[in-house]
Amino acid sequence: MEQRRVRKAVLPVAGWGTRFLPATKAMPKEMFPIIDKPVIQFIVEELLDAGVENAIFVTGRHKRPIEHHFDINTDLERHLEEAGKEEILENIREISHMINPIYVRQKQQLGLGHAVLTAEPAVGSEPFIVSLGDIILEKGSENIKKMLSLYNRFERSVIALFEVPEEEVGKYGIAKVREIEDDVLLIEDLVEKPSPEEAPSNLAIVGRYIFTPRIFHKLRDTKPGKGGEIQLTDAMKLLLEEEAIYAYRIEGKVYDTGNPLDYLKTVFEFALRREDIGEELLSFMTRLISKQSQLIDKP
Ligand code: UTP
Repeated sequence: MEQRRVRKAVLPVAGWGTRFLPATKAMPKEMFPIIDKPVIQFIVEELLDAGVENAIFVTGRHKRPIEHHFDINTDLERHLEEAGKEEILENIREISHMINPIYVRQKQQLGLGHAVLTAEPAVGSEPFIVSLGDIILEKGSENIKKMLSLYNRFERSVIALFEVPEEEVGKYGIAKVREIEDDVLLIEDLVEKPSPEEAPSNLAIVGRYIFTPRIFHKLRDTKPGKGGEIQLTDAMKLLLEEEAIYAYRIEGKVYDTGNPLDYLKTVFEFALRREDIGEELLSFMTRLISKQSQLIDKP
């Protein structure tokens, strides 16, 4: 019987992370900590909270730490048990049992579209979520749940969008949309990294998607684009010729952790909100900023 419910999520984590070299030479950027929790765990928790338990990771060389993170570490557990560190032990055990992952290897980093296509044998012919491994959403599971309900209503692909400042449209895939009813948007066109003059809107593709399995056919038909990479946006454009694609406007903030500046902004924002370290960090930063501005003010 054809599976119509969305049960699986694909998490592409095989990229080189060149914007973060040399840190990413041997360590996946998806494992970078937001204080003490790796980015990828936020993304897995978002899926679990939305009721999606089957995670398919598209991995590559140097991505083993991701596999270890979601695996059982008996030595560590024994050590924590003997040291009487109950609270952290419970947390570590919870992570090991969070998901039953499937790991698929992308042998060559031929782009995001290619990474998604690599997951086809594990997805099969059913609808699925794609969550990028370096984007955290403030209201993660709430957004996924709303995307799922749009999917359940129309049984068509749903792409998450968020508003970006006009001067930043050139960094993203931008969508032209038509509102067909309150909060229900249809995608009319997609443009990759347009200039502000060419951009049909300021709604950018954000890294959360639900696809019908038809996308796999379109990915196979997609010719390599810039840098020889198979672009997911190009396959989405082909899909658009055949099927409607709905858009969903993300609620809350979007945190990009894939480049040093945005990663640091994310870490500071999350740290300032923490009860255990927030206050002290704020006073440290206030002192630092005032010292820095005194230096700048000096002739
Ligand atoms: P990015 O473009 O942000 O990742 O892709 P990247 O290519 O690793 O980063 P830079 O540009 O070199 O700094 C978004 C997500 O898609 C994955 C990445 O791991 C990331 O989580 N990806 C990208 C793949 O899995 N395979 C690819 O071939 C490309």
